[in-house]
Amino acid sequence: MSKICIGVIAGSLRKASYSKRVARYVAGLFPADFAATFIDLADLPMYNQDLDDEGAAPEAWTAFRRTVAAQDAFLFVTPEYNRSFPAVLKNALDIASKPAGANQWAGKPAALISQSPGNLGGALANQHIRQPMNFLGLKLMAQPEQMIAEVATVLGADGEITSEHKRSSLAAFAEAFAGWVRENA
Ligand SMILES: Cc1cc2nc3c(=O)[nH]c(=O)nc-3n(C[C@H](O)[C@H](O)[C@H](O)COP(=O)(O)O)c2cc1C
Repeated sequence: MSKICIGVIAGSLRKASYSKRVARYVAGLFPADFAATFIDLADLPMYNQDLDDEGAAPEAWTAFRRTVAAQDAFLFVTPEYNRSFPAVLKNALDIASKPAGANQWAGKPAALISQSPGNLGGALANQHIRQPMNFLGLKLMAQPEQMIAEVATVLGADGEITSEHKRSSLAAFAEAFAGWVRENA
């Protein structure tokens, strides 16, 4: 039986990124028929429409577009930067939305987690990123929301989740996401 392909995208380039660690933890809760691909954004040059217009898209954009096109659904994990979401994520959304007529996000189910060492859990990043995602036609799961506050204590050094409450809320989130993907992919 072929697997359901889930692109897992963390909005941080940091080696020790909490977003990447949360993404790995949640991907570990996916059902057996889901296959996670961790899509790294580190090598993506900034979007410049001239390069598409001139047929000179960088190889990294083309490879990223191909990888996005190959996914059935997406899990995004974002930090909050200055009360919004990081530029690397916006750049990634922009690149795979172009060239015109080749939006690779359209119609695909997705879910979103925000995290912060602070006590708001990246709530504003979580809200802001919904605007371009909705515009692009990603079918974003509305509930349950998942905003991880005080991530530095929620995540243990070994990548485990330290609180039973958070473990069960992430398990419920992953289960709802699996249902959302099955209904909408
Ligand atoms: C440029 C920048 C802006 C930030 N702005 C916010 C913010 O508005 N709200 C917040 O809760 N944390 C903010 N932070 C702290 C991040 O939430 C924190 O660095 C987080 O660990 C980044 O996620 P990562 O571990 O996946 O890289 C900011 C960090 C940076 C580097």
